[in-house]
Amino acid sequence: MGEYILELKDVVKTFGGVTALDGVHFQLKKGEIHALMGENGAGKSTFIKVITGVHQPDSGMMLLEGEKITLRSTEDSAKLGIAAIY
Ligand SMILES: Nc1ncnc2c1ncn2[C@@H]1O[C@H](COP(=O)(O)OP(=O)(O)O)[C@@H](O)[C@H]1O
Ligand SMILES: [Mg+2]
Repeated sequence: MGEYILELKDVVKTFGGVTALDGVHFQLKKGEIHALMGENGAGKSTFIKVITGVHQPDSGMMLLEGEKITLRSTEDSAKLGIAAIY
């Protein structure tokens, strides 16, 4: 297993002319708890939706335990152990 459970590299997500995620880098180690903070419209929900397969990034990479993953749905992410609890 790699150093990180989940890693995002240079993830970009746009909605039409709006750039919601502008080259996001994120690294999560086993046992860590992260707080995602930012003003309204900062991209917090979009980030969660990208890591749970609701939205697909325009570019960039997601790695799970060092392996590149592509998520097309919340079913895909749930199978890999990634879920949002609302
Ligand atoms: N489905 C969508 N269609 C168009 N624009 C969106 C959509 N989701 C988010 N956005 C836009 O992306 C930006 C980030 O939104 P969001 O991730 O919801 O921010 P936060 O959760 O931090 O308030 C905002 O400008 C928002 O209007
Ligand atoms: Mg939000």
